[in-house]
Amino acid sequence: MLEIRPAESEEDIAAFLSIRGAVDPDFPMTREAFDAERTTPGRLGVLAVLDGEPAGGAFVERQYGDPTSTTAGVSVRVLEPFRRRGIGSKLLERVARHAKGFGGVEMYAVARTEAVDLIAFYSAHGFTEVGRMQDVALSTADVDLVADAPPGIEIVALGDREELEAGMYAVAQQAEADVPAARPAEAAPFPYWRRRYLGPLAIRELSFAALEGEDVVGYAILGRDDSGEVGHWMTGVRRDRRGRGIATALKRAQIAGARDVGIETLRTQNDLANTAMRRVNEKLGYRPRLEWVHVAGPIAV
Ligand SMILES: CC(C)(COP(=O)(O)OP(=O)(O)OC[C@H]1O[C@@H](n2cnc3c(N)ncnc32)[C@H](O)[C@@H]1OP(=O)(O)O)[C@@H](O)C(=O)NCCC(=O)NCCS
Repeated sequence: MLEIRPAESEEDIAAFLSIRGAVDPDFPMTREAFDAERTTPGRLGVLAVLDGEPAGGAFVERQYGDPTSTTAGVSVRVLEPFRRRGIGSKLLERVARHAKGFGGVEMYAVARTEAVDLIAFYSAHGFTEVGRMQDVALSTADVDLVADAPPGIEIVALGDREELEAGMYAVAQQAEADVPAARPAEAAPFPYWRRRYLGPLAIRELSFAALEGEDVVGYAILGRDDSGEVGHWMTGVRRDRRGRGIATALKRAQIAGARDVGIETLRTQNDLANTAMRRVNEKLGYRPRLEWVHVAGPIAV
């Protein structure tokens, strides 16, 4: 008998996380990430149990944690021995019903290019490719750089300087809208933006603001990804201050800071169409690791 239930008990959460790690060992989900994401708007994590044995898991949430988004970000994983028995479809149906309940009109999912089973599964459920992201990484030991800043700009660590957050958010309202993406984000209202970018997994000491006088004109946030790796979550520069080396200086400060505290690898993801960010990363020495296919499909329940 197949049962699909919310992953809420300690035992079910452990099973959910172990399934994610088994299906994609390079990108497991930490317990810390599971807990942090429980408060994302629309979030539901479910476990599929076949005859008492955990067989698969799925989650759904409003995309970008935006409480007004009608796009439901979903993820479905089934352990290899349990595939081709309809378990993934049942999981997808369960999260689709939940998404419909919060007013979702489409589902959105991400898969590694080599995850052929997963991509075929989403295609069979009406999803089509809407974009591709590049995953790049930098080994901090391999770079020899000094943190500097363009004339008139001061790069400061966020740390406990909460007074910088409003200025960062003002830049985010322009920058997020300008990130090339299949479903462009709008900066959600401040509390949600803050929850997403400056929540418990953000590393404030390695996140920086670029100041021109008192004004924040750019920012870069580093945090611990679902897998536990350290990643660049967002870099943004005010529209009228782009092309002056501000993003490069912000990232240099992050790389130097990360290296100083012993972080060996920094990871980031960019839409293939994000020429400016890709150029910054390439100049700093980030090298391609893999690509992600982004797919979107109907909520057919
Ligand atoms: C990406 C972004 C942060 C770059 O900020 P910035 O301060 O302008 O970056 P820099 O000045 O340090 O460097 C930009 C580099 O990209 C290049 N560049 C900019 N636009 C480009 C374009 N359309 N095509 C090719 N290269 C481009 C610049 O020439 C420069 O390279 P160079 O020094 O070799 O000339 C800024 O464009 C932005 O806020 N975009 C929206 C938010 C975003 O996409 N963030 C990344 C999310 S993953």
